Amino acid sequence: MDKQTGKTVLVLGANSDVAKEAIKLYIKKGYKVIAASRSTGELQSFAAGNGIASADIDIRYFDATAFDTHEEFYHKLPAKPHIVLYAAGFQVTNDQALVDWEGSYRMIQVLYAGAVSILNRIVMDKDNDHLERIVGLSSLSGVRGRKSNFIYGSTKSAFTQYLAGLRQFLFPRRVIVNAIVAGYIRSKLTAGLDLPESLLLEPSFVAHAVVNAGKSFVIVPGWKWKLIYRVLKYSPETLVARLP
Ligand SMILES: NC(=O)c1ccc[n+]([C@@H]2O[C@H](COP(=O)([O-])OP(=O)(O)OC[C@H]3O[C@@H](n4cnc5c(N)ncnc54)[C@H](OP(=O)(O)O)[C@@H]3O)[C@@H](O)[C@H]2O)c1
Repeated sequence: MDKQTGKTVLVLGANSDVAKEAIKLYIKKGYKVIAASRSTGELQSFAAGNGIASADIDIRYFDATAFDTHEEFYHKLPAKPHIVLYAAGFQVTNDQALVDWEGSYRMIQVLYAGAVSILNRIVMDKDNDHLERIVGLSSLSGVRGRKSNFIYGSTKSAFTQYLAGLRQFLFPRRVIVNAIVAGYIRSKLTAGLDLPESLLLEPSFVAHAVVNAGKSFVIVPGWKWKLIYRVLKYSPETLVARLP
């Protein structure tokens, strides 16, 4: 482990496969981590299984969709964060979401509304004068509306736009905001989906992009996905309409 930085990272949705890899890297870099998740038991096992000392990780219960608990959750934190990572995720297929409002609504809540609720609370705490960075795990699905995934994609698009505005809002305070615009990742979220193996990113690879995020707003991990991002972003609608 590197020298202790004396800094704290708050990871929201910490049981995500990407988040857990990021937690390991942050701790290796000398940060203390507050790991916030509904699955506190799983996180205890994760910490024990990875030899993470209890001094380096504080596991807290956090439900992104329990908006009315966010205020209390934030105020009870053992330390005000220097870095915040929002990693909570949930997905049902577009076909299912079209006929099942609960699935659509949960995606909206976990991927967008929950993020806005807790991040608003965090950034409006003017007593935290050491906040330095907010990182959101967004997705290439949010770059263009496509017929196969526009419900999940629209929540990611909204999340990316929120982060873009938040970045401008926080610029005078020198707080950096990054959107990790990731392609397919091999994680619980995509387990069971038939995705091209050659495009799948490992959670640890994406976690490196998170932990080493610089000053750019959009960070697309992996050269293949950087290419796809550019094509998607700049293609005319007639071409996007032919995509799945
Ligand atoms: N996998 C991909 O291909 C991909 C691509 C681009 C972006 N992303 C995004 O990356 C982020 C991390 O996803 P992942 O790939 O690491 O998938 P993952 O392992 O399935 O992680 C998602 C995590 O979100 C947590 N979560 C769900 N509902 C929550 C809630 N109400 N409150 C708090 N936490 C909640 C889940 O934890 P519990 O169920 O244990 O509470 C789960 O561990 C997500 O935002 C996802 O949309 C993923």
